[in-house]
Amino acid sequence: MKLLILGATGPTGRHVVDLALRAGDSVTVFVRNPAALGDLADRVTVVTGDATSRHDVSGAMTGQDAVVAALGRGNSLTADDFFTRSSTAVIAAAEEVGISRLVWLSSFGVGHTYQWSSVPQKLIYRTLLRSVYANKEIADERIRSSGLDWTLVYPTRLTHGPEAGTYRADDRLPMKGNPTISRADVAAFMHQAAHGSEWLHRTAVISD
Ligand SMILES: NC(=O)c1ccc[n+]([C@@H]2O[C@H](COP(=O)([O-])OP(=O)(O)OC[C@H]3O[C@@H](n4cnc5c(N)ncnc54)[C@H](OP(=O)(O)O)[C@@H]3O)[C@@H](O)[C@H]2O)c1
Repeated sequence: MKLLILGATGPTGRHVVDLALRAGDSVTVFVRNPAALGDLADRVTVVTGDATSRHDVSGAMTGQDAVVAALGRGNSLTADDFFTRSSTAVIAAAEEVGISRLVWLSSFGVGHTYQWSSVPQKLIYRTLLRSVYANKEIADERIRSSGLDWTLVYPTRLTHGPEAGTYRADDRLPMKGNPTISRADVAAFMHQAAHGSEWLHRTAVISD
């Protein structure tokens, strides 16, 4: 598969790149700063650009079979409209280029999944993550109402742990406490979802 990965320099996106290369995919990464790729740059096609620019994204999308997006704001607690701006650019670029498959990383607790969150999770989502979650909710709705073959991925708190392969994934997943999932497991789920049809037009909640 010809796979375009957005957010490839982030910790989750980097796992997706590694998995895709191991699986024999033809990998294109879309990054702001190619130097951050290190040696990986020799093994993938690198396109430089800004994910909020439809023009930049559509250039990278040409000829791809699917897009996996692991975009984020790093440690920032403000969204600065990043998720609405990048999702708008990605949807418009996909429509322009004629690509339909999109696997998009969001967060558990956004939108309708808030109802299944535990008391400690709700506290964090309503305070620290309020700005990011409000913006993600709008972005995710835009993706759902687009004509794309989308999958939205809603992991709980991310860790840098190894791939365990034992996580739960469902459309509806009630939580207790403050569960986690490793970025490696999230990446494996996203990569697998991009290769199949099981999670088409579904929001996947994933957690240990
Ligand atoms: N932390 C958690 O516990 C948690 C839980 C659930 C969900 N999530 C979500 O999971 C996602 C990924 O998180 P993460 O920690 O793996 O990654 P991250 O550190 O947020 O990295 C995000 C990636 O997006 C890229 N990016 C940001 N702005 C860009 C722009 N304008 N144009 C192009 N690329 C851009 C970054 O590139 P640069 O390297 O150039 O900055 C980086 O590759 C985020 O959406 C986050 O909200 C996080």
